[in-house]
Amino acid sequence: MGKLQVCILGATGVAGQNVVESLEGHPWFEVSELAASQRTSGMRYSEATKEARFFDGLPENDIMEREVSNVETLDPMDYDLAVSSLPTMIAKIQEPIFARHIPVISTSSAFRYEPDVPILIPEINPDHVKLIDAQKKGRGWRGYICPGPNCTTAGLVITLKPINDAYGVKLVHMVSMQALSGAGEAGLRKTSDYRKKVEMNVLPYIENEEEKVRLETRKVLGSLHGDTLNEAGIEISCSCNRVHVENVHTESVFVDIEKKCSLDEVKRILSNFSGEPQTLKLPSAPKKPIIVLDEPDKPQPKLHGKLSGMTTMVGRLRRDPVFRNGLAYTLTSDNTDRGAGGGAVLTAEYLKVKDYI
Ligand SMILES: NC(=O)c1ccc[n+]([C@@H]2O[C@H](COP(=O)([O-])OP(=O)(O)OC[C@H]3O[C@@H](n4cnc5c(N)ncnc54)[C@H](OP(=O)(O)O)[C@@H]3O)[C@@H](O)[C@H]2O)c1
Repeated sequence: MGKLQVCILGATGVAGQNVVESLEGHPWFEVSELAASQRTSGMRYSEATKEARFFDGLPENDIMEREVSNVETLDPMDYDLAVSSLPTMIAKIQEPIFARHIPVISTSSAFRYEPDVPILIPEINPDHVKLIDAQKKGRGWRGYICPGPNCTTAGLVITLKPINDAYGVKLVHMVSMQALSGAGEAGLRKTSDYRKKVEMNVLPYIENEEEKVRLETRKVLGSLHGDTLNEAGIEISCSCNRVHVENVHTESVFVDIEKKCSLDEVKRILSNFSGEPQTLKLPSAPKKPIIVLDEPDKPQPKLHGKLSGMTTMVGRLRRDPVFRNGLAYTLTSDNTDRGAGGGAVLTAEYLKVKDYI
C-alpha cells in the first residue's frame, strides 16, 4: 500500500512548516498538498515562507519548489487526511468542510472546547480517542476533528500526568515564559511590529492563553465516562508572558499534591513516564517523553535542542514551602514540535494504528 496522502492547511505558517518538517521522510504519510490563504496561493513554497522561515535547512525533497494552493479551492476527497494549522477563525470555517469527509488533525483551538472533541495527547489520554466515534455519529461526518493542546498546555500536562496518577494533584500555579515562534509568523518575521515589541523585553500578556491552559489541562487530564468527558478537578492559576526567545517555552510550575512523597520518588516517576506511543514505537514518539535534569541552571530553552523536540525537559525539582505537600519545578517544551507539528504528526500516527485513519 502507498503512503497516505496528507493535505496541510496553513502550511506556510510556523506550525504548518513544522508539520511539513515532521512529515519529511515519514514512513506512512506523504505531503500531497501545501495550502494556505489567497495571499500566498500560486507562490512557490520557498517564496511563501521566506519572511518567517522556520526550517533549519531546506528539506531534502522537492517541497520548497511546490506551488502553494488556496485552502478554499481544495476538494477534501482528494486526500486521506488533513493536518490543519489555520488561525482559529479560519479553522472554524474550514476544518468542518474537510471533516465531513476525512480526518482533520488540528493545531488550532477552534474546536478544542466542544464536548464531542478530544484534545488528544497519545501519551496522556489515549482513551479519549473514543470521543471521535461520538463526534462522527452526532455530526453525521465521515471524518472528524481531532485537535492537540495549546503549545503552553502541552509541556504542563505531560509533567502533571505522572504526578497526578501517583499522588493526586490538587492545585497548580504556573508562570510561562513563551517563545516568539509561539506567536506564529508575527513572532518570527524580523520586521513585524509584534516582534519589535518583544525584542529585549517581556510582554506580560498573551491573549486568551491563561484561559486556554486552565480549560485544556482539566480536559486533557479528565476521565471519559461513555460519551461524556468529566474534567479533572484540579485548581489552576497561571500567568503567561512572551519573552525574547526564538523557540521553546519555559514554565515555572508549583503543584500541591494529595499524598506525601520524596523528591527522589517524584524524579523517578517523571523519568520513567511513558505511554502508548512508546509501547507502539510510533515513528514520532520520543524514547522518553520527560527527561529530568539535575544541574541547578537547567533546563534552558536555548539548550533544549532540536533532537529533543518531542521531549519535555524538567529541572529545578524541589519542595515548595508554601503548600502542604508542595512541589516546584521548571520545564521547557518545544512549542512548535511537541506543541504543534510534531504533536499533530504523533497523533496522526496513533490514530492510524488505532484504525481511525
Ligand atoms: N506557533 C506555534 O507554536 C503554535 C503552537 C500550537 C498551536 N498553534 C496554532 O496553530 C495555528 C497556526 O499558528 P501559526 O503560529 O502557524 O500561525 P502563522 O504563522 O500566522 O500561520 C498562519 C497560517 O494560516 C494561513 N492563513 C491565514 N489566513 C488564512 C485564510 N484566510 N485562509 C487560509 N489560510 C490562511 C497562513 O497562510 P498565508 O501564509 O497564506 O497567510 C499561514 O499558513 C493557530 O491556530 C495557532 O493557535 C501554533
